[in-house]
Amino acid sequence: MKASSFLYLGNFWLKTVLFKKKDPILGTIILTDRCNLKCKHCSVNNITAIMHPYVQIRKEMQTLYDMGVRILFFCGGETFLWRDGDMTVRDLVIEAKRMGFMIVNLVTNGTQPIDLPEADLILLSLDGDKERHNAIRGNTFDTIMENVKNATADNICFYMAINQINKGAVRDVVEIAKKTNHVKAVSFNFHTPYPDTKDLQLTKAEKQSIADLIAQMMDEGAPIFNLKSGLPYLVNNTFPTPCHQCLVMENGKISVCGRCIDVPGLCEQCGYFFVAEYTLFFQGKLKIVFEALRTYLKYI
Ligand SMILES: C[S@@+](CC[C@H](N)C(=O)[O-])C[C@H]1O[C@@H](n2cnc3c(N)ncnc32)[C@H](O)[C@@H]1O
Ligand code: SF4
Ligand code: SF4
Repeated sequence: MKASSFLYLGNFWLKTVLFKKKDPILGTIILTDRCNLKCKHCSVNNITAIMHPYVQIRKEMQTLYDMGVRILFFCGGETFLWRDGDMTVRDLVIEAKRMGFMIVNLVTNGTQPIDLPEADLILLSLDGDKERHNAIRGNTFDTIMENVKNATADNICFYMAINQINKGAVRDVVEIAKKTNHVKAVSFNFHTPYPDTKDLQLTKAEKQSIADLIAQMMDEGAPIFNLKSGLPYLVNNTFPTPCHQCLVMENGKISVCGRCIDVPGLCEQCGYFFVAEYTLFFQGKLKIVFEALRTYLKYI
């Protein structure tokens, strides 16, 4: 991260903590909800299957920028399917950087070739060893690993949503990350139980034993892009929700925190690690703040 970006974000943090402000800093744009997969745990694919055009996405980027967002994520559906004429998601990332977003990341299922050196981080969903990943995501593991091998930059972070199917494969994903070129780290989420995927939810005891394992692997020096001090809050769902510093833009509609904000009762069961980590960070919890600084400077 550039020193100027670090100072800007530090100043934003200080103002937020001191004056308990709710201004946004992180924004996510949903490029399309179209997807080539139909993962068992996912409730947001192919609802409209609309591919939002470049002019719309560009306008949404400007709106978020004008609202103060400086950390931008592209998400979907599948981001690498996005096209407008000859333009691909790479053009969007380059444009976002040109506009002044300080960190530009995207989330992908990794089934398409990965040529995106301009992104700060590519969060690539890997949901287990081959058997358990494929049980959730169809027969995609080998294709994904081939795409990771052929990626053009070392900016990939595996992204695992832990649920009833893959709860035993947490260490496997870390071990795969350690021995795979182009992969910097692994970032986790617990399954968030949307009404149609409640059966995949983890119990509190299961979350506790997974959190213990993640903490143990962190102590062993494993490349994990999460905050150990956030884990107890995630196990007990005691972090504040929603995250006011985070906005999501989908087809012109802005939601605070996530698209899921409208699902009744979901925030109390939220499993997204970023929500816990960001809300606690912006509450000024010192342990979280110091750990966040160390972790973010290491991976971004
Ligand atoms: C909706 S996908 C979109 C990007 C891309 N298609 C992918 O799979 O990475 C974004 C991330 O959300 C995760 N996800 C989907 N449903 C979830 C849920 N109910 N709880 C936690 N994570 C979930 C996916 O595993 C993926 O890592
Ligand atoms: S690849 Fe992503 S968007 Fe598509 S179904 Fe799976 S989790 Fe959902
Ligand atoms: S806190 Fe609520 S809105 Fe935010 S990601 Fe979690 S469930 Fe969605």
